[in-house]
Amino acid sequence: MLLKYSPIVLDSIDPKTFPKVELYVKNDKGFTLYKPEATELSENNLERLRENGTEFVYINNANWELVEAYIEKNLDNILSSETVPPHSKNLIFSHVIIDCINEVFKNPKKVAAFHKCRAILKRISFEFADREELTGHFYKLEQSYEKYLVIHTAQVTVLSMFLSEKLFNAGRNEVIDIGVGAMLHDIGMLQIASNITEKTDVLSESEYHRVKLHPRHSYDMLSEVMITERIPLDIALSHHERLDGSGYPRGLSEHGIPKHAMLVSICDIYCALTMNRPYRIASTPEEALKILKSERKYFDPTILNGFFDIMVSPHFSEPVVEEKIPPHFTEPAAEEKSISREIVTDNSTASVEEYTKKLRRSAGDRKKLLRLHSEVTDHINEAFGKEKENLIAFRKELKDFLQSMSSVEN
Ligand SMILES: [Fe+2]
Repeated sequence: MLLKYSPIVLDSIDPKTFPKVELYVKNDKGFTLYKPEATELSENNLERLRENGTEFVYINNANWELVEAYIEKNLDNILSSETVPPHSKNLIFSHVIIDCINEVFKNPKKVAAFHKCRAILKRISFEFADREELTGHFYKLEQSYEKYLVIHTAQVTVLSMFLSEKLFNAGRNEVIDIGVGAMLHDIGMLQIASNITEKTDVLSESEYHRVKLHPRHSYDMLSEVMITERIPLDIALSHHERLDGSGYPRGLSEHGIPKHAMLVSICDIYCALTMNRPYRIASTPEEALKILKSERKYFDPTILNGFFDIMVSPHFSEPVVEEKIPPHFTEPAAEEKSISREIVTDNSTASVEEYTKKLRRSAGDRKKLLRLHSEVTDHINEAFGKEKENLIAFRKELKDFLQSMSSVEN
């Protein structure tokens, strides 16, 4: 079902020049009309919305082209304005990237839509202060887009561009090439039937075989629209290659995998893990890093370690000098620090098998079983992926077992 409304970052609105369209706000009840089309919007209106913590207003999609033209025309002014805070600028250009990808995905035959991606990336630059700032606003937009792939791709784009500057010391053109590659790396998924790409169960062998063709489709589609730069083509073709040769489509290994594709691949996995899907709850950043660490044999160690160095620290500007910390940043909670340390030092995970052994040893001892139940409950918060699901299922069995014991005792 198509969503009827699209979000607009509040700080991208200049009331004097913004198109005269209906504006909506979103609350618990859904979308509520805030300003009818004929009513003038004032700076006071915007100020009041800001005071209420509003970051987005919404427009009816029927007005999208008008608003899109306004944003494109005013983007440079908005991004260079001293009155727009850096957080809002990051939000605005993330939003612009999302819309750009959305357009390509809606019109994969439209050559101009592809080339607009590069044109947009050339107009933006960013500086993120911390990890929350880098990825947090995508979660706010998560519910506003019809397709997961669009918002996920935008997040991978921003993360890959940001990290390429830090890890490869990449110049402006290289960063833009990486951004174009990251924006378009999964475009080939559009050639895979939606009953496969949207399937929430395990794929059959033949379905998985078809999915594995998508990097080649991406490469071909970019070539067809005359994208000739090496970096975007490498990223499209090689973002599922793995260091041990187990990746696809070519089974490249070691130095055969272009470094830009390897970086996008790591970002791709991190972003996929930290976003909610119909079949799995999003991992926390710490859980996602832990999963990547447990799969390190697949990735270039230098790039992966560089990724960890930056992402493990909630604040990017290390070493943090106390007096330079802006007032709105807070020190990470003690718990977060210890989890970060654990990622570096501890690769152990809770095992359902171990718990099953404990259950057998404790069978009949209600006190021990209750302790075991509470231990499993604690571990569920630390586990991830399949193990988390198994642990939840194990806890349910244990609970049922405890209840059956109670009914016998009574
Ligand atoms: Fe992919």
